[in-house]
Amino acid sequence: MEFSIKNGNPEKQRVDCVIVGVFEGRKLTDSAKILDTVSNKAISAVLKSGDMDGKLNTSLVLHHVAEIASGRVLLVGLGKQAEFSERNYRQAVRAAIKALPKGVASASIFLTELDIKKSDIHSKVAQMVEVVMDTTYQVNAIKAKKAEPKALNKIAIHVAKSENTQAEAAVKYGLALSAGVSFAKDLGNLPPNICTPTYLGEQAKKLAKTYGFKIEVLDKAQIEKLGMGSFLGVAQGSVEPPRLIVLQHLKGKKTQRPVVLVGKGITFDTGGISLKPGAEMDEMKYDMCGAASVLGTFRAIGEMKLAINVIGIIPTCENMPDAGAIKPGDILTSMSGQTIEVLNTDAEGRLILCDALTYAERFEPSAVVDIATLTGACVIALGNHPSGLFSNKDALAHELLAAGEKSHDRAWHMPLWQDYQHQLDSNFADMANIGGRAGGSITAACFLSRYAKKYDWAHLDIAGTAWKSGKEKGSTGRPVPLLTTFLVQRAQKVK
Ligand code: BES
Ligand code: MN
Ligand code: ZN
Repeated sequence: MEFSIKNGNPEKQRVDCVIVGVFEGRKLTDSAKILDTVSNKAISAVLKSGDMDGKLNTSLVLHHVAEIASGRVLLVGLGKQAEFSERNYRQAVRAAIKALPKGVASASIFLTELDIKKSDIHSKVAQMVEVVMDTTYQVNAIKAKKAEPKALNKIAIHVAKSENTQAEAAVKYGLALSAGVSFAKDLGNLPPNICTPTYLGEQAKKLAKTYGFKIEVLDKAQIEKLGMGSFLGVAQGSVEPPRLIVLQHLKGKKTQRPVVLVGKGITFDTGGISLKPGAEMDEMKYDMCGAASVLGTFRAIGEMKLAINVIGIIPTCENMPDAGAIKPGDILTSMSGQTIEVLNTDAEGRLILCDALTYAERFEPSAVVDIATLTGACVIALGNHPSGLFSNKDALAHELLAAGEKSHDRAWHMPLWQDYQHQLDSNFADMANIGGRAGGSITAACFLSRYAKKYDWAHLDIAGTAWKSGKEKGSTGRPVPLLTTFLVQRAQKVK
């Protein structure tokens, strides 16, 4: 998609479609008013006919309106003017793009003129780019006949002349973020026979070459040397060899302690010997979306050349049932020395993450954030809207919550109280790997907290947000917007 920043009047744009907004109650925005005036009230006449009322998620295409250079005008509903917000703005942009007729290759959008509380031109333009890219994303489906791509390839975002510089920068920012989101989506959507731990390692290497990251991809022998008995326990049930990916984006001052991102990279989760039921098991190919979000975030900050030090750590393997697989009752020794009684082989995410968290200590991080499709219980608790956020440091939690609000990729703060820790007690090892049904997402976080004592740490449970089920099945690219925004705001602070 090609984006440009333009000024100029809506009636004069020689494009396939001009997009303007209408508030509920048929209230025209300034640009819609201009079109109405030059067309001798053609717009208000259509609205009066009752075909469109300005409600959110409604739209109407008009063809060959008198005195308007563009062949089509798309009216998009904005909802109640008094309630107009960034959320409604994003929804309107989404609805407009979805409603564009098939033949439209170029469009001019007149929506940044709208006043939104607590927003500015940078945010409005960047979000427009992000929403357009999100809406027009196409899965690289593996079909004999390739789907025909949509015609839409040029979008002009109209702003006031005085806003040009900021708007140009915002397009770049939005495109960088979207590149990260698309990359995460692509990886998540790949079938698990292609997206293996080896494949993820290769993708990370490619990314490192493009953006100048330092990279190491450790193989099984190297992981053994590190003493990652817990991670290797999960990996031992599969013929696919595990990988530990370590990426370094070092664009901050030498003395600046890095932020470490740790991503769960289970490329397929059958549950292991504690086998999952068959229904929808295919969705467990998304169990590497934590890893994908780390790679996606690296792509975004690489594009931005963000002045900050960030390390990415990705433990990746399959969770398979096999003669060699771990069994319920097995005891594993983690890299930290703490021992773990495996009571359920399906609670494997925490088993690979705990060793990665111990590995993170060597970077003397200013903060560590792990991202994982960790528990079904998190989906039961929060549904599919926010990611679950747990942290041993309130200040860090609040930074992440704010980044989520700003990027419309929200998280919800969950408790990590001492009260839950005893649910992990084991008679045979330092801890069990499950804590019973009550508060399942919390006891999973409690487990991880035992490996994150040496630094400020937060955990994002993205089981409900990383992909969509049903008709629109597919990876969402979340929480790349949250993580990227978090890093951008940190980079501004430590400057
Ligand atoms: N990858 C799953 C979590 C998951 C389940 C994500 C469903 C999205 C949808 C994880 O490895 C898992 O299986 N967790 C178990 C933990 C339980 C055995 C304590 C779960 O949530 O059922
Ligand atoms: Mn599992
Ligand atoms: Zn899993």
